[in-house]
Amino acid sequence: MTGKGGVEDQAGGTYGSSEATAGWQRSGAARAQILAPLTERMLDLAGVGVGHRVLDVAAGTGEQTLAAARRVGPTGAVLATDIAPKMLAVAAEAAAQAGLRNLETRVRDACDLDLEPESFDAAISRLALMLIPERARALTGIYRTLKPGKKFAALVLATADECPFIALPMRIAGRRAGTPEAPFGDPGMFALGDPAILAAVFRGAGFREVTVEVSRVQRRFPSLAIAMQNVRDVLPEISQLLMHATDDERADVWAEIEGALRQFENANEFMVPMSYLIGAGTK
Ligand SMILES: C[S@@+](CC[C@H](N)C(=O)[O-])C[C@H]1O[C@@H](n2cnc3c(N)ncnc32)[C@H](O)[C@@H]1O
Repeated sequence: MTGKGGVEDQAGGTYGSSEATAGWQRSGAARAQILAPLTERMLDLAGVGVGHRVLDVAAGTGEQTLAAARRVGPTGAVLATDIAPKMLAVAAEAAAQAGLRNLETRVRDACDLDLEPESFDAAISRLALMLIPERARALTGIYRTLKPGKKFAALVLATADECPFIALPMRIAGRRAGTPEAPFGDPGMFALGDPAILAAVFRGAGFREVTVEVSRVQRRFPSLAIAMQNVRDVLPEISQLLMHATDDERADVWAEIEGALRQFENANEFMVPMSYLIGAGTK
């Protein structure tokens, strides 16, 4: 009955460990296949343009931060914030390798951004808002950092029913961990999956002209085995749920997850539906 990863390695929450960071980094190319166009749409909805100063909240390894940095160009700047230092270190390294000098990283809890009011031309957050406790406080903080008339856009997962690739593994791990409700609570992966809830969260912080766009896509992997590696890479929540399980118990859970996902395998590939929402609002 041993957990994985030492206490120090856990700095920065669920995504803070070396293992979680490596998994998120490893899965970047596969994620980009589906999220690159939606990320550009998020940047459009946030009004990101040349010369802008952009805030990226819970930026992780920075895929969307780099997209924003490219869009604002050398006369603009992007600040990537996240609670997990190791995730941000990957973002900083990726920016350096891409020759982007207009990207800065800062370790910050989204609930306590502590940034200068009215100093950003746009704010974005990808795949994170639903995970943030004290979300109202985070939204109010983001609102405060924006200049009047400027926009915030956030991409989140839709409901569990619309995201079986994520929901099935989480449901199985939660049940085996004896906490079947935990993966579906708030905060949690699907907490903002209903467009009405996402819109209400924006309005609650004071944003106006709030819109929510729904994108239904198919995620494709060459095989079930590659899809399974992706699940392991993108869901550190499962390791956390199974923290007290033995190695044998863990292996058993992963076998059950593979069995459940087999339904999306066909003769040529693995294909599973996914849905995302992009909420946007103006200060
Ligand atoms: C699913 S990852 C998404 C990362 C990145 N935005 C992307 O789309 O590739 C969620 C990120 O939210 C961050 N996060 C979770 N809770 C946070 C909080 N309270 N404050 C700041 N970041 C947080 C995690 O550390 C992680 O990097």
